[in-house]
Amino acid sequence: MESGNHSYMAEGSAYLRAVHMSVDGEPKVLNDPLAATLLGSDLDDKIAADRERLARPELIKARSLIIMRSRYAEDELAAAIDRDIKQYVVLGAGLDTSPYRGGHPAQQIQTFEVDHPDTQRWKLERLRSAGVQIRDNLQHVAVDFETDSLAERLTTCGFSHDEPTFFSWLGVSYYLNQESVLDIFRFVASLPAPSQLVFDFVMGDSELNETERNAMTKITTFVEKYGEPWLCRFGPNDLQKTLHNIGFGTTFYFSHEQATRRYFENRPDGLFLDFTTQMMSAIV
Ligand SMILES: C[S@@+](CC[C@H](N)C(=O)[O-])C[C@H]1O[C@@H](n2cnc3c(N)ncnc32)[C@H](O)[C@@H]1O
Repeated sequence: MESGNHSYMAEGSAYLRAVHMSVDGEPKVLNDPLAATLLGSDLDDKIAADRERLARPELIKARSLIIMRSRYAEDELAAAIDRDIKQYVVLGAGLDTSPYRGGHPAQQIQTFEVDHPDTQRWKLERLRSAGVQIRDNLQHVAVDFETDSLAERLTTCGFSHDEPTFFSWLGVSYYLNQESVLDIFRFVASLPAPSQLVFDFVMGDSELNETERNAMTKITTFVEKYGEPWLCRFGPNDLQKTLHNIGFGTTFYFSHEQATRRYFENRPDGLFLDFTTQMMSAIV
């Protein structure tokens, strides 16, 4: 991210969630009407002018991955609330709207939105100009994961270390250095059971075949061009071992094949997933 600017990828992710609402078929994989609200009044014209590009396979795949990761995290959150989770933390929130959507299960529990200060400032401005109400049990916490202590910042904002907590961390781990990623794993693993972390990750080149490696090179070149390079990548098995060594009791690798079966079968709109980003769930 360029210093002083919000994350371009956060804006792009919200744009693709809004595109899903406006262009893709029913039922929606992710029902996120507030994405368009936050992006501003000229969005319909922008989407109309962008139709040709949005129909390209790489854009269909990108929005499929983005809506799937949010849907999976929100499904896991709903299940975690049934297991008596008391706090919800959205790490690297970008324009995630789950804490603001009426009827969302998270409305009832203490919620913390954590993001880089530059992106958070921009989001707060977007929320204000869209007239979105911020509920009393929602705190905004500015953190740079590379330099700040997440635990300290959360504590200052009223986070309880004694309550089981659900963390979503979507579209972020691969932008950080590995040590910062491990620090987040350690922090979540230090919380009471059944605290849970749901996040996506990018596979290392050694896990990919030649076609996938070539496709990955195109994507990494694209994100680097926007100043947000992918720094941290894992193989699913090594990642699960790392999470267990750090202290998580259960890990679940939700592969794109499983995600396709759960969310994308028999759709009329050609949405599809591939290997580019993968989901992991880890429970203390
Ligand atoms: C691709 S966006 C994803 C946003 C959101 N989670 C979503 O799914 O739409 C990446 C997010 O990570 C945040 N981020 C990147 N580097 C960060 C850092 N060093 N510290 C805190 N947040 C960071 C950005 O501000 C941005 O909100």
